[in-house]
Amino acid sequence: MSAKKFYLTTPIYYVNARPHIGHAYTTIVADVLARRHRLLGEDTYFLTGTDEHGQKIERSAAAAGVPPQQFADEVAAAFQKLWDRMGITYDQFIRTTSDKHKLGVQKLFSKLYEKGHIYLDSYTGSYCVSDEAFVDAPVGTPCPDCGRLLEEVTEENFFFRLSNFQKPLIDLIESNELVITPESSRNEVLSFLRGNFMPIFAELPKAWVGDKPITIDEMFKHARESHGALRSSLGHHYLPGTLKDLSISRSGFKWGIPVPEPAASAAEQKHVIYVWLDALANYMSAVGYGDESAKGQANFARYWPADLHLVGKEITRFHCVYWPAFLLALNPEYQTETQDKGIVDVLRAAEAPLHLRKSKIEPQKLTAEQHSAWAREFLPKQVTAHGWLLFDNAKMSKSKGNIVRTETILDAFGDEVYGKQFPESMKAERDLFASDVLRYFLLREIPFGQDGSFSFEAMITRYNADLANGFGNLVSRVLTMIGKYFDGVVPPFAETVFDVMITTDVGSNMLEVVTVGKGEIASEMENAIATGNLKGSSFQRALVSRQDSIDAAIWYFDHLRPDRAITATYMLIDAADKHLSDRTPWKLAKSNAPEDLKTLSDMMYSAGESIRIITALLYPILPYATAKVWAQLGLGDIELAARNGGLNNLQWGGLKPGTKLGPLAPIFPRADKGLIQIMTDMEDAQDSKLASSKLSAQQDPAPPASTHPAAGPRSSTIAEPAGPLPVGGSRALTPGPDPALTTESGQLTPPAAETAPQITIDDFAKVELRVAQIVVAERIPKADKLLRLEVDLGPHGKRQILSGIAEFYTPEELVGRRIVVITNLAPRKMRGLESHGMLLAASDTEGGKPALATCGEEIALGARLK
Ligand code: MSP
Repeated sequence: MSAKKFYLTTPIYYVNARPHIGHAYTTIVADVLARRHRLLGEDTYFLTGTDEHGQKIERSAAAAGVPPQQFADEVAAAFQKLWDRMGITYDQFIRTTSDKHKLGVQKLFSKLYEKGHIYLDSYTGSYCVSDEAFVDAPVGTPCPDCGRLLEEVTEENFFFRLSNFQKPLIDLIESNELVITPESSRNEVLSFLRGNFMPIFAELPKAWVGDKPITIDEMFKHARESHGALRSSLGHHYLPGTLKDLSISRSGFKWGIPVPEPAASAAEQKHVIYVWLDALANYMSAVGYGDESAKGQANFARYWPADLHLVGKEITRFHCVYWPAFLLALNPEYQTETQDKGIVDVLRAAEAPLHLRKSKIEPQKLTAEQHSAWAREFLPKQVTAHGWLLFDNAKMSKSKGNIVRTETILDAFGDEVYGKQFPESMKAERDLFASDVLRYFLLREIPFGQDGSFSFEAMITRYNADLANGFGNLVSRVLTMIGKYFDGVVPPFAETVFDVMITTDVGSNMLEVVTVGKGEIASEMENAIATGNLKGSSFQRALVSRQDSIDAAIWYFDHLRPDRAITATYMLIDAADKHLSDRTPWKLAKSNAPEDLKTLSDMMYSAGESIRIITALLYPILPYATAKVWAQLGLGDIELAARNGGLNNLQWGGLKPGTKLGPLAPIFPRADKGLIQIMTDMEDAQDSKLASSKLSAQQDPAPPASTHPAAGPRSSTIAEPAGPLPVGGSRALTPGPDPALTTESGQLTPPAAETAPQITIDDFAKVELRVAQIVVAERIPKADKLLRLEVDLGPHGKRQILSGIAEFYTPEELVGRRIVVITNLAPRKMRGLESHGMLLAASDTEGGKPALATCGEEIALGARLK
């Protein structure tokens, strides 16, 4: 049996503006879904492209002083290049100026015309050039959708008999033959199609007649009797006449696909096809509609109808009303009418007035069953609308001047974070790494379907917390330990040591390791994930098994909730992390007792196997990073695993004991907050570059920097240290220059004075020394001498300190130690990380092991030394 197919599309992007992260968002979501469906073994086809016709593009090109085709070529290339840099796995990039697309659009127009769904008429109305739509509002007033002023357009037009499709469309959506998600978009489309009952209900004299309230049934009875309201096949009311016929050609400009014969000759002027009919048809022309070759037809039969159109919420009406109506009208049960060139020619020759020449032939009516049978065969299965990326509560868009370019993020994260710390990495790798960061942020941060705000600061915070610390830290801890304790070979496994993770007391974040049956607490889990709050009271006694988390992640992926799929996957990460911290395998490793070694083996296997499952789940979101983890786990090429079902095996035990780990290397270097400024500057530089370029003639003025979504607080930038850099400020703690550090900041330590000058007690009082406990200690990639510590200062909170003691202390032996810290040193930056203070130590020989200054257990954390 051939594999199930999955045909997925993004909207095609207008070429009047260069891509920004709003466009990238849709494309990323589509790529995640395409990767997920491919790994499930489906015959997946992922289409994206550019929408290149219409008055808007024609005007933009004219403003830039270039022919529209050249203009479109440049911007389309920019989109395609960006998707390539980001590793987007589209199968085809369609352009509406391509010949094959033109053939498809003209075929669609001709079919509709032949069947009597299109007629010629003249029309005067308000037109929004920006939205390329006639609008029901007075000329000269702002467009209700985008706010641009409406222009009067009088034109002879071809019209599509949209009004004939009101009930078929309502039936289609009510029956879920066309699924629309989220529910809010479905409701919006349905109420548009059903018409507005409010003024009719308002006619009822009072909501109350005597003591008795008017029932809903009585309200609709009134609508039926006085206004002719009808019922859909499922019995819901609608007002006939709500849907008006749609103008589907334009004659005032040239930049479009010409209306084909015989329709063309019927018109006084030359017409181009309305840009939305042109654009929507891309979904069919891309897979072979209009291509009469055997290959073209086979391809069309293989992929059409589309399984999912992914769109921004502003274009649901085009995809859920116009597009399905065009497709319903292609039903072969509609007979081809005699509205052919012959009749038109006779009438033209007789110089009959236009109203006589336009066709009055109406296609016959089809039954609900005929529509429904055709819909199942030929209409897209689902349209899913996502929300917008916002800044200052407004949609990020070129016209508002509040956009962030994806290239900025690729360059900043790729070159500044990845490239600086792994200078040997190639440009392509850096791009893919940065693309993962953006993918993760957008999918994790924005509840799918809702609007979400973007800021560089939020992205950096999320990256450091979830990827550098969360996933990345777990992988590096576990694989390093397997390396150390088992010579880099996955150890044998006898018993589950942490099958279940969440807690009888989530309030204090305790994880209880017990076993419960699968699926017992699905509803609580749903609740907890929905609120994003695992500490919610309804969750107090919940237990979540590992399998529950895996099932939830899969369920959410398959129901287009990547944000929740990630949350569910992170429960596995948190559980594995917490388990290791609680059970301290490094202590077991020091024991010779066989029982301890068996526990260690079970524990490290379980941690490794958890990483395998987590990695398989995260692959669609983080294709580059998970490929690295997969290889480090000794499992080879993740793309191969995606193709041969390896990533679909989420059964416990998939990791074979005896697997030799691959070479280990850090995956997510930390990102410094200073990156906010770097990215803001990059955006500003781009703005000014564009402002002086040709293509910018049509760009709106760049916003002031302070209103830019990218703008972080400028003061948040911590300047690179200019002079000598004390690591912790003490010679004892900086046992010699770290070459990695010297490149950044020159000499590491100030020259030691043989005899220190005297200071007053007031001078000493300026130094704040406090008792602290080390709670986290870890190595820093490519810095042999530096450790990153997190210290707990009791009531004074926790902070990060970088210290040059890596040669003398392992991270494991430092965790839990009480030390003395100078807490009021200005923060310093090293290796892209900030150090907030220094620890005190002394060594008796130059370069000898430093002894850490300490205070007894009885002194509270945070207590000041005076
Ligand atoms: N060309 C039409 C679509 C035709 S489809 C047959 C169009 N183009 S567009 O470039 O203006 O927008 C295309 C899509 O880009 C939107 O539907 C949406 O998916 C995405 N986005 C553009 N700006 C966005 C945000 N600020 N936020 C999220 N997505 C955004 O409409």
